[in-house]
Amino acid sequence: MFAVHLMAFYFTKLKEDQIKKVDRFLYHMRLSDETLLDVVARFQAEMQKGLGKDTNPTASVKMLPTFVRAIPDGSENGEFLSLDLGGSKFRVLKVQVSEEGKRNVQMESQFYPTPNEIIRGNGTELFEYVADCLADFMKTKELMQKKLPLGLTFSFPCKQTKLEEGVLLSWTKKFKARGVQGTDVVSSLTNAMRKHKQDLDVDILALVNDTVGTMMTCAYDDPYCEVGVIIGTGTNACYMEDMSNIELVEGDEGRMCINTEWGAFGDDGALEDIRTEFDRELDLGSLNPGKQLFEKMISGLYLGELVRLILLKMAKAGLLFGGEKSSALHIKGKIETRHVAAMEKYKEGLANTREILTDLGLEPSEADCVAVQHVCTIVSFRSANLCAAALAAILTRLRENKKLARLRTTVGMDGTLYKIHPQYPKRLHKVVRKLVPNCDVRFLLSESGSTKGAAMVTAVASRVQAQRKQIDKVLALFRLTREQLVGVRDKMRVELEYGLKRDTHPLATVKMLPTYVCGMPDGTEKGKFLALDLGGTNFRVLLVKIRSGRRSVRMYNKIFAIPLEIMQGTGEELFDHIVQCIADFLDYMGLKGAQLPLGFTFSFPCRQAGIDKGTLIEWTKGFKATDCEGEDVVDMLREAIKRRNEFDLDIVAVVNDTVGTMMTCGYEDRNCEVGLIAGTGSNMCYMEEMRNIELVEGDEGKMCINTEWGGFGDNGCLDDIRTQYDKEVDEGSLNPGKQRYEKMTSGMYLGEIVRQILIDLTKQGLLFRGQISERLRTRGIFETKFLSQIESDRLALLQVRRILQQLGLDSTCEDSIVVKEVCGAVSQRAAELYGAGLAAVVEKRREDQGFEHLKITVGVDGTLYKLHPHFSRILQETVKELAPRCDVTFMLSEDGSGKGAALITAVAKRLQQARREN
Ligand code: BG6
Ligand code: BG6
Ligand code: GLC
Ligand code: GLC
Repeated sequence: MFAVHLMAFYFTKLKEDQIKKVDRFLYHMRLSDETLLDVVARFQAEMQKGLGKDTNPTASVKMLPTFVRAIPDGSENGEFLSLDLGGSKFRVLKVQVSEEGKRNVQMESQFYPTPNEIIRGNGTELFEYVADCLADFMKTKELMQKKLPLGLTFSFPCKQTKLEEGVLLSWTKKFKARGVQGTDVVSSLTNAMRKHKQDLDVDILALVNDTVGTMMTCAYDDPYCEVGVIIGTGTNACYMEDMSNIELVEGDEGRMCINTEWGAFGDDGALEDIRTEFDRELDLGSLNPGKQLFEKMISGLYLGELVRLILLKMAKAGLLFGGEKSSALHIKGKIETRHVAAMEKYKEGLANTREILTDLGLEPSEADCVAVQHVCTIVSFRSANLCAAALAAILTRLRENKKLARLRTTVGMDGTLYKIHPQYPKRLHKVVRKLVPNCDVRFLLSESGSTKGAAMVTAVASRVQAQRKQIDKVLALFRLTREQLVGVRDKMRVELEYGLKRDTHPLATVKMLPTYVCGMPDGTEKGKFLALDLGGTNFRVLLVKIRSGRRSVRMYNKIFAIPLEIMQGTGEELFDHIVQCIADFLDYMGLKGAQLPLGFTFSFPCRQAGIDKGTLIEWTKGFKATDCEGEDVVDMLREAIKRRNEFDLDIVAVVNDTVGTMMTCGYEDRNCEVGLIAGTGSNMCYMEEMRNIELVEGDEGKMCINTEWGGFGDNGCLDDIRTQYDKEVDEGSLNPGKQRYEKMTSGMYLGEIVRQILIDLTKQGLLFRGQISERLRTRGIFETKFLSQIESDRLALLQVRRILQQLGLDSTCEDSIVVKEVCGAVSQRAAELYGAGLAAVVEKRREDQGFEHLKITVGVDGTLYKLHPHFSRILQETVKELAPRCDVTFMLSEDGSGKGAALITAVAKRLQQARREN
């Protein structure tokens, strides 16, 4: 009895002595609560640094956005392939995610070896090997004929800009294949699969880190899961971060999973005070010295080695094995994590220790075994402590993001160290709870690895891909090929000729109206003129003072509103309103009673019998006043002035805005022989040879033709490129069936086309969560200025979203991307169609004059041209492409068409006087 007690006492004493000895020796590895709290704080700071746009480049903890935006919601389904590469085992799987609601996942998998010569050889060969394994799997599982989406779990730090792409930042753990770092692993694997293209038809839709896969796997069963932690060969964690905190990704709503890559914590020296001589020695002998310093203190690949280095040092110091060392103890990697786990087993631990040490060629005493076991405990406990500290930082961040006093959450766990070490989970949980007492944490072990989660991500990605295809299909309708544009140019050319010829003119849709403007200003014009500018965005009254010789013009103008009820009321009301505005202007300028010559810019199709006679053929754009069509607008204006009986005006000229614009620019550049409007409406005029104008007598010289090209296509000749959206816009307009080209190109309609597309995409469930709001049903919400703003390159997505919100459209950031794309497709087509039309005209001019090359200037005006960020560039590029032998200069009309109208008036006045004097 006494002997037993004595033995027990002796053993307790021996144990205590050994533990004290080891504790003293490894004093530096035992971290106090205070130190751990300090590590928590340091890791919090690291996360912040990694998330900041400016600080990320120098941050060691990279906080990589994963483009995984939500945890599974149970609606995922389908059949997927999955690869799991980077942990201790390489697996290929087929995952069947069940029909909606049932949450049933079936997996078939196969392990493949990863020999060192493959994972540390040539990168191309590594990916070829992976593709070979996949092909083998498909063959054995008889999946060859199926086209399946694939999710790739790739457990290394990758920089992602989208889900299906990832540039490897650096290899970690045991991998070190050449030529992979800095390249996209998804495309490398895709390339490698080409070799098997007969057998493999696989689309890699998602690249996920193992932490992300683990989180998603666990979240499928527990919706509270928002963190994933791996403590295996390597160590790492991911968690759901608020988008508003992720500066590297546009958008601020919702959350995105961040792969912290916490293994690199300390790579900038932040943990130097905690690292020991053993950590440094281990690092020097590793594949990636100086890197993954936190991981090297924690994960399975390194724990055994740390123990070995400690034992060696203790033996050398005579503290173990009577100072004897075996040769095996000198060999790197001889002690593995599974040994550490075995030595720490509760009951068999000591016996295991003896066996393991003996296998290493040592002859351990009882005391040695106790001491070695304690070394293992200290090393693995430190690992758990450090993991707990970093995890505590993440949990605190989550709690603070949610502004909660207490956080209830679940952490998905995986990795062999966590799974096979007998004490590890218990210790980790305990320390986490101590460090974050205000979090109720559930630790959930991922039984099925990370692939189930990867399949969930792939399922969502494949749904997104299908939606993307639908969107692309719609936008493809707006992408014109070169052949189509050449076709448009050639058809326009035919229509121009039709309009000019007496026989075909009556039926021509491009009306080619003679304007009786026969020459450019020559600089001798002078005097004071009034001008009206009606038909664009603004109605203006102007006073224009032209001084001869100096080509200088002074202008005063005032903008007046024309209310909708007047634009679409009676003709009399409209003209009375105009005269009212003139009266106000004269008053304002102190010119009451002055009898000035007036030029009337009237931006609608008019048949002219002289410079001061213009019969409105039909209203276009937003005007629809009654009793005007078929009437002479000059007469209507004169009568309205008479009705008012307050002043008299000498109406000398009526001009289209294209003509006014050409004149405005022609005053400065004599080469300007074309006038172009890309504004509310779309139109063009140009100087034509008199001999080609069959409707007007005489063959000498030139006359300006107002093409009214807006009517191009009204005979159906553009039907091959008109979309259902163009037709809807046309049907909802004031003049259905008319001005079809204008309706595909000008500011008044582009926004409407966009709106029709958005309605359709919403109906298809691809936008605005499938909800068509009242606002979206409202005609005219997308004015040219909004299109121009949305498409501005300088604008961040958030700003686009804000514009849409201002327009009353409650959109997500994904919605905003789509809206911007839609706007881009619609405006690009418009600019290209303009380019094709203009190419037809300049080519005609070149041929008519028999020039090899033509140098010509086009005067341009209109809000679309002026405000839109890309319109003018695309227009110019298209003209260059479709009329390569013309050197076209574009000149923006800064002063509007009022100046040109005044110049025309001045010339007409001079001619009028000359006629009278004759
Ligand atoms: C597995 C996962 O269960 O755990 C892998 O499926 C992961 O994706 C691995 O990489 C991590 O643990 P270990 O110990 O294999 O590195
Ligand atoms: C103005 C001209 O600058 O541009 C008008 O003075 C013309 O005559 C107008 O109609 C065209 O652009 P928008 O965009 O106002 O229709
Ligand atoms: C390494 C990798 C990381 C991975 C972890 C666990 O730290 O860099 O991406 O998640 O190991 O496998
Ligand atoms: C409409 C008008 C046309 C005008 C153009 C630009 O197309 O019919 O006359 O030039 O708009 O304002």
